[in-house]
Amino acid sequence: MNKIKENFYFLKTFGCQMSNLDSKYIQLLLNKMSFETKQIEKADIIVFNTCSIREASENKLLNLFSYISKMKEYNKDIFVAVLGCFVEKINYKFIQKHSYIDCFISPDYLHFLPYAFKRFHLKKKNYQLVYKHFKNNIHKNTIKKNFDFLEDIFLRNKIRTVKKKPREYIRIMKGCNKFCTYCVVPYTRGLEICRPIERIILEIKHAIYFGSQEIVLLGQSVNHYYYRGVNFYKLLYIISNIIPKHIRVKFLTSYPKNIIYPLLTLIQQKSCLSKYLHIPAQSGSNTILKKMNRCYTREEYLDIIDIAYAKNPGISIAGDMIVGFPDESTKDFQCSIALVKYVKYQHLFISQYSPRPNTISYLYYQDNVSKSIKRARHNYMFKIQQNIMSQYNSSFVAQILEGFVWKAYNTSVSKKLKEILLVKTDANKIIFVFDEKKLLGSKVRVRILQSSSSKIFGFVVK
Ligand code: SAH
Ligand code: SF4
Ligand code: F3S
Repeated sequence: MNKIKENFYFLKTFGCQMSNLDSKYIQLLLNKMSFETKQIEKADIIVFNTCSIREASENKLLNLFSYISKMKEYNKDIFVAVLGCFVEKINYKFIQKHSYIDCFISPDYLHFLPYAFKRFHLKKKNYQLVYKHFKNNIHKNTIKKNFDFLEDIFLRNKIRTVKKKPREYIRIMKGCNKFCTYCVVPYTRGLEICRPIERIILEIKHAIYFGSQEIVLLGQSVNHYYYRGVNFYKLLYIISNIIPKHIRVKFLTSYPKNIIYPLLTLIQQKSCLSKYLHIPAQSGSNTILKKMNRCYTREEYLDIIDIAYAKNPGISIAGDMIVGFPDESTKDFQCSIALVKYVKYQHLFISQYSPRPNTISYLYYQDNVSKSIKRARHNYMFKIQQNIMSQYNSSFVAQILEGFVWKAYNTSVSKKLKEILLVKTDANKIIFVFDEKKLLGSKVRVRILQSSSSKIFGFVVK
């Protein structure tokens, strides 16, 4: 494409790791169009990669829209594109109302961005382009083709434009079949589609060759992966047999019902597998879990946790909880608190229930827990979690932990203090140490000095 004017873009991303990964594709497309990143005021292309998981995520976006509409009044040449999950949810009325937005592209059609821009630039500025599935009436094969196409462009281009990155996210599947009653993801991202194992392996090998030390396999229910006879266990087994010893592999997010016990044994046996499980419970009450359509009970969930700890005593468990789901009583909430205390999560993401249009819970349940109760329950759970973290982190003080030096930051505090290094343990714990940058990428032993609810500090034992 010919160079056009100053060639600057502004990209803002909302949402999860999937959305962040999509933004890398978007950046790549923009770079290929010879655009470079700049602050919003100087940009010729403004792109929002959006999220719809909670009302609050959408509100942040809508606030930005009013700013953009004013910008567009002064400069009609700016190209404004709204991409991502939010697009799958909007209707024509919304599109017409926001006529200053030049194109809307849902996650399966991101590769249409250059084409949309070209059309805009050919002076068809009164057009709004929309690429989305509408009412899911597009055949699954079409979606699959788009998905493979997108991953392939990225792979091909990554081979040409390589930057050394300590961590590489690799999508092994897209979409979700679980239909938890509160969740928009099956509607915004569509049903599950798994990538061929050869493509995944190729991408992993490529990442390692160019210096990645941590590979993060991504999927909404990552442990539900299945492609031509290869399930998630087999995939991990194959990966762990082909990668070098110093590489760590992590995966997000595990769906409790699809955890098979041999997987927990594999984590124990293979040193390359991070001793880390992100396995959200969402609630500790069986009544609420049933209403959420989570397909497991509190007892089944806790069995998995017990076995995970028994096999890997140092494992870090991360989770997500929703408070204030319809009909959640004080007793139900107390069950969630008891579960949080029992599991001792290393990271816990707490959300207040947000009814999402057209989901089952929106259509059939009443959002009958008040905002103030939701907020109070959120705060209470957050405090409990902070106490757990403080206690847990303080249990490391004076111990020696092993990890590899993950990141280095310059410190201007004092020359003596050298660099701030982030050391990551096998259980995904981050330790802050002051030492020399040359340690970056090496394995070190760290004596823990001090801790708080969110941080651990130590020094490298030479
Ligand atoms: N696939 C993952 C979660 C993806 S969504 C899983 O099954 O665990 C990320 C988190 O957002 C969810 O775990 C849930 O805690 C939260 N969430 C999703 N929909 C929500 C809603 N309507 N209201 C509040 N929180 C929600
Ligand atoms: Fe949403 Fe449930 Fe799928 Fe997670 S498993 S993405 S919460 S529907
Ligand atoms: Fe992620 Fe938000 Fe979409 S959480 S999958 S970007 S709705």
